[in-house]
Amino acid sequence: METGASAPVFLPAPLSRGVPSGARRGVSATLASMLNLDRAITQFDKGLRTVLGVTQAVRPMPGSDIEEPDLSPEERRDAAALMRVNHCGEICAQALYQGQALASGNADLRRALEHAAREEEDHLAWTEQRIAELGGRTSLLNPLWYVGSLAIGFAAGKFGDAWNLGFLKETERQVELHLQGHLDRLSERDVRTRTVVAAMQRDEAGHARTAEALGAKELPQAVKAGMAAAAKVMTTASYWL
Ligand SMILES: [Fe+2]
Ligand SMILES: [Fe+2]
Repeated sequence: METGASAPVFLPAPLSRGVPSGARRGVSATLASMLNLDRAITQFDKGLRTVLGVTQAVRPMPGSDIEEPDLSPEERRDAAALMRVNHCGEICAQALYQGQALASGNADLRRALEHAAREEEDHLAWTEQRIAELGGRTSLLNPLWYVGSLAIGFAAGKFGDAWNLGFLKETERQVELHLQGHLDRLSERDVRTRTVVAAMQRDEAGHARTAEALGAKELPQAVKAGMAAAAKVMTTASYWL
């Protein structure tokens, strides 16, 4: 169960009566750490399900009612590899959001991150389904990207809410551009894959708008460039591996 771990914890009046104030503080601190542990366990469980591919979409895969197109072997291989890159990106998104949510003490921000992560979970399931339909496989490097992204998300979260949101907004903006690149490259006949990618792109734009509305700061150009360079390494490696 998800709980607001950062809120002060008080013993109910009947329990606290007659307990010395030092002991009450000690019990409150213990309860607070238990709630933090509860959050950490919830995130660990989510992480395991992400890396092991045990995710289920709440929304059905967009375009699942469209007939499978007759693609050439090369078009199928390329589409499967592009969807493997997107699946890997969604693993990273889950890890980034989990890291950011773990680091943030702001309950509103955590709720926004969890809502976005829920939609990313749909993306994760959709990309996995489409990869299977195209006869491809997910990236062997997923656990590695997951751990790295979790650490980056946690570090971003420690810079405070406005920068945390700025990082989220910039991530979503770069993903939106990246997905446009896939739409430009995918075969016009592969409407099934294109519909999934276009739906993901719409969601990512929505996540960026949410971050902006919550007060995201604009990241320095050098940080944006660093993020783009890191994303390039991930997308290139996961295309092949
Ligand atoms: Fe996504
Ligand atoms: Fe997103």
